[in-house]
Amino acid sequence: VEFPILTVNEVFAAGSPLKTLSDSREVSSTRRLIFVDSEVWKFHSATICEYFKPQSTHSEIVVLEAFEDRKNIDLLRLCLDEIDKFGPLRRGEPVIAVGGGVLMDVVGFACSMFRRGIPYIRVPSTLIGQIDAGVGVKTGINVGDSKNRLGSYFAPIACINDPSLMATLPTRHVASGLAEAIKVAIMRDECLFNIIEQRGADALASRMAGEVDAEIIDRAIKGMVAELKDNLTESSLERFMDFGHTFSPSFELTHNLLHGEAVAVDMVLCCAIATIRGMLAHKELTRVVNVLVALGLPVVVEPTDAGKLMRALRESTVHRGGKQRLALPTAIGGAVFVEGIGQDDIVDALALARKMHALAH
Ligand SMILES: NC(=O)c1ccc[n+]([C@@H]2O[C@H](COP(=O)([O-])OP(=O)(O)OC[C@H]3O[C@@H](n4cnc5c(N)ncnc54)[C@H](O)[C@@H]3O)[C@@H](O)[C@H]2O)c1
Repeated sequence: VEFPILTVNEVFAAGSPLKTLSDSREVSSTRRLIFVDSEVWKFHSATICEYFKPQSTHSEIVVLEAFEDRKNIDLLRLCLDEIDKFGPLRRGEPVIAVGGGVLMDVVGFACSMFRRGIPYIRVPSTLIGQIDAGVGVKTGINVGDSKNRLGSYFAPIACINDPSLMATLPTRHVASGLAEAIKVAIMRDECLFNIIEQRGADALASRMAGEVDAEIIDRAIKGMVAELKDNLTESSLERFMDFGHTFSPSFELTHNLLHGEAVAVDMVLCCAIATIRGMLAHKELTRVVNVLVALGLPVVVEPTDAGKLMRALRESTVHRGGKQRLALPTAIGGAVFVEGIGQDDIVDALALARKMHALAH
């Protein structure tokens, strides 16, 4: 599997590869079906229409309200109906998904199913989209409170990042994306952590438009690619990029958190477990809590209890083939996989996380 992850300045301007990229071995045209997130549409409809304007190409734009609580089978069905109505050439007219992780996950899933797979291009418009959801090959939808319970591994033919799209992203969503960058940093890139520690608040204020912010995006993508490239379809269930994703599925939807916010709470819990086990120095736990708090990210959620978190760990253990394979940091920038975490560990870690939260506020 190979696909380019490109960064361009204006993805909806003449010269953008959006209309020319296709599976070039096949008959192709510039006719496109474009799914656009409704918030992106609010701010960028003029440039999108202008870019796809020439009527001769008969492109279609479908605006979707693709919020997390709509990432379900109804939205998937709607996408499939639109694709069916449009009738793209089997290979030469890739569907384009412009939006955050939700829209790209649902449209990608639909494309993986339609005629058992038609090409699509991702144009991520959020920070999570650009550094995380756009990078791997996973697609999916939620079922009830179960995150991404249905999905597929299906690579796009390209992912095109345009950082300027994030100028309109609400601050809370930028912080949510920075949480995923912090995940990469804690697991494998101390330098990235240092940059976010020093410049994270500025990056938030400038909505990732500064020079240092480009470095944050670039390092986060590189770290993610390095972790995923040899394990795209998860033949190995030991994944450092699962850090922050063990306990969080049990409270992300129920507590109405953004994805990165839930990841932040999970990361603190795991760092607290590592500290109590003597694997991670207390001062490093403090740095993690401080960097999250400085970005307005949560470090604990209430109400929560150890029993519920233990059930989430059991659920993750099923997902990971019967072993916990819990990624725990041994330093900022290094980690190992651990087994044998019990409810007592979670009780103690929760107490420590609450204490750290109280100290930081
Ligand atoms: N497939 C993967 O590998 C992968 C990886 C990480 C996350 N995800 C999934 O991604 C989702 C989270 O992604 P997200 O954080 O991008 O959330 P999202 O797609 O819900 O987008 C966040 C919000 O920002 C709005 N928005 C999007 N672009 C905007 C823009 N440019 N300007 C203004 N508003 C804009 C959206 O309408 C939405 O309200 C979760 O469902 C998660 O499971 C998938």
